[in-house]
Amino acid sequence: MNKKTFSLFIFGGTGDLAKRKLFPSLARLYQKGYLGELHKVYSLARSKREDWERVVCQLDENFGKLCNFVPFDVTDPKSYVELGKLLEELKGQELIFFLSISPYLFEDTIRNLGKLLRNYTNPRKIVVEKPFGFDLHSAQKLNDLLYRYFIEEEIYRIDHYLGKDTVQNIFSLRFSNIIFEGIWNKNFIDHVQIVALEKVGVEGRGEFYDKVGAIRDMLQNHMLQMLSFTAMEPPAQMSEKFIRDEKVKVLRNTRIERLLRGQYEGYAKEVGRESSTTETFLCAEVWVDNFRWKGVPFYIMTGKALEDKLTQITVVFKEVPHSFTRLLDCQPLQNRISFQMAPQSKLTITFELRPPSGRFMSCPVETSMEYLFPSEFEEAYEVLLLDLIEGDQSLFIRGDEIEALWEVVQPFLKAEEDPFLYSRGVKVPQEALEFIQAEGRAWFL
Ligand code: BG6
Repeated sequence: MNKKTFSLFIFGGTGDLAKRKLFPSLARLYQKGYLGELHKVYSLARSKREDWERVVCQLDENFGKLCNFVPFDVTDPKSYVELGKLLEELKGQELIFFLSISPYLFEDTIRNLGKLLRNYTNPRKIVVEKPFGFDLHSAQKLNDLLYRYFIEEEIYRIDHYLGKDTVQNIFSLRFSNIIFEGIWNKNFIDHVQIVALEKVGVEGRGEFYDKVGAIRDMLQNHMLQMLSFTAMEPPAQMSEKFIRDEKVKVLRNTRIERLLRGQYEGYAKEVGRESSTTETFLCAEVWVDNFRWKGVPFYIMTGKALEDKLTQITVVFKEVPHSFTRLLDCQPLQNRISFQMAPQSKLTITFELRPPSGRFMSCPVETSMEYLFPSEFEEAYEVLLLDLIEGDQSLFIRGDEIEALWEVVQPFLKAEEDPFLYSRGVKVPQEALEFIQAEGRAWFL
């Protein structure tokens, strides 16, 4: 565990992410006594938003005293001169730089900061938010730039889904239990569904979102991370290197077979570009071409402006042989294990049993057992910030991994067809139902 005094620099420190997630998470960690070694948090931004002080200080008065605002323009060399003066006062401390800024500013910031840090010997870490690049090529360029100034052990690429309890529990359930890992393969599993449905539209992020779309915003990162935790092989050891090796290995065997894109009605007007063909919804059929998963499709679905928020992975098992139930004139439903991230963090196992009021020879009925994941942390960012401070990179994305993720989606970045339109507030668009019905399956939602 890191016991070094450190200071945290948040570039974009008055922005949306900082305000909604980073500061509240830091304040909670502070209150729980996890930030004993924190010297100061510096918010670097062009202007102090009026409400910044209120937001930071009201979270916790004592935590607020550790927070400083530094006027900063990431593209202006003069700002780095000023930052240099500040660093002079922090000799011997670990410096953590968190890039919570527009991805268009990543390169300038990394370059200017990297050059400045050459004059200092402090231990350092740099955190890069998503999106990490816009395609494979730009992600490689960003990696190259980072490696000019930092080593991999200093680079923390964030995907906040990895901080979620449920995602980490996929790993635990699989690799700490013989009864689950033993059936986690093509012999028992029919298919896997990974869904992230959202009620919100693009809200105030229209201009940015329109350049990104659901493929870059959700599929390339969160959805494929959920897939890799579900599909990876057990690591040789519980270490950050071996865990990430296995994720890279599974991603290298992953390919998208079909992808369907949709856009909610009113989106193009909302973002102010009537001709926009950016997708706000997608379904993908994904295959993992290895010994464990041959013949098992992974169906992914994610979209915005739908009826409800639902994020979950459902592992659907094969049917039992019909000979058993032929005389009963019914077919038991397939067993399922589902990992839910939202609205609740929970595990549900669904299976068939004799009905409570039934006879021995009666059709089984669906039964389920639920387990809510208890958690000390409210927010995925709390977990990730703590790992960052402690220097554990297991839940951060390695350079080769980010490129492997881009390689999976790269063939689908240039859409050939316009997206279909769906109504706001629909549970799931009809096209998405048909996407999987075509293969005799249905979504479990
Ligand atoms: C973000 C995306 O990374 O994840 C957003 O940019 C999306 O568009 C969000 O809404 C979803 O995260 P969560 O934790 O609410 O499922």
